[in-house]
Amino acid sequence: MSEKISIMDIDTVSLDDENSQIVIIDQTLLPYETKTIRLTSQKQIWEAIYKLQVRGAPAIGVCAGFGLYLAAKEIAAGTQDYDEFYEAFVKAKDYLDSSRPTAVNLSWALNQLDRVVCANKGKSVPEVLEALHKEAMRIQEEDIRACYKLGEYGLSLLKKGDGLLTHCNAGKLAATRYGMATAPMYLGQEKGYNFHVYCDETRPVLQGARLTAKELMDSGIDTTVICDNMSSSLMKEGKVQAVFVGCDRVAANGDTANKIGTSGVAIIAKHYGVPMYIMAPTSTIDMNTATGADIKIEQRAAEEVTEMWYEKRMAPEGVKVYNPSFDVTDNSLITAIVTEYGIARPPFTESLKKIMEIKAEA
Ligand code: MRU
Repeated sequence: MSEKISIMDIDTVSLDDENSQIVIIDQTLLPYETKTIRLTSQKQIWEAIYKLQVRGAPAIGVCAGFGLYLAAKEIAAGTQDYDEFYEAFVKAKDYLDSSRPTAVNLSWALNQLDRVVCANKGKSVPEVLEALHKEAMRIQEEDIRACYKLGEYGLSLLKKGDGLLTHCNAGKLAATRYGMATAPMYLGQEKGYNFHVYCDETRPVLQGARLTAKELMDSGIDTTVICDNMSSSLMKEGKVQAVFVGCDRVAANGDTANKIGTSGVAIIAKHYGVPMYIMAPTSTIDMNTATGADIKIEQRAAEEVTEMWYEKRMAPEGVKVYNPSFDVTDNSLITAIVTEYGIARPPFTESLKKIMEIKAEA
């Protein structure tokens, strides 16, 4: 009899032993099939990010970091001249950066690698490659560490038996381990907190129903899926003591872009006096973006809304479709932004600046 595989035992994104392929869980197949796929070419990596085979801000960052390292290896096979190498490197970087616009982790990770190449100018191309490999691995390790710290800070905000609501998937599948919104849930599970977790199904791509519910259930957490229009009734009944969501980009004033629907949940939470927590590794905080109005929101294909999950079309042919992938939650609706360097509370312009200063000194 074949043993049931837990999604928690497989890396969301990793580099294979020979450092020649990226291995990802194909998230478009979940929850029906748990399958890993291998990516080598830039086109495959770009498409895997665009098609949401790998998704979630930190996981996209880690994947892009590995992807640019693989591109650098390929470029180095054709030239040992630094300037030629760097020109092709920048092209590969820009190409990967164009796969999705909202999650800042993508460009953040690519810029980290770019910095390494520039800092190693004057060294041989193999030495530059070695430094790039180290940096790509560091980004992944840093993500694991950050998620664990988010879990500890997040747990400090909760009591045993709390009911928690989450939107989209800011879990292990959106990162490399623990996840962001799920990190306090997993840590609480280890410590016997017995949380009841409600997952918004998260239309149109159903990251909540397909992914968050799957990973929480695989971890033995009490999990209930709700439709996106049910959170108000749940909060009215007093079943939710806190909302935990991830984020794709936090502006310097605390305005937060996350999966479409998050701002609605935040408005409802405020109405019922339920705290709204944003779980934000500092790689998602973008101090160069002043407010949410400056965040580019990805628009996605109409088919995600009209025909994705059923054999038959769900909406009339030719109907207009509005499909923004993210929305911005105003900072006034956010109780706290939890980072791996501490918990930022309003006013966020000051508290986030302080967090970034602590990070710079660490
Ligand atoms: O379109 P997706 O599935 O990549 O969107 C993911 C989210 O919105 C997550 O909540 C976000 O990336 C959080 S992970 C810090």
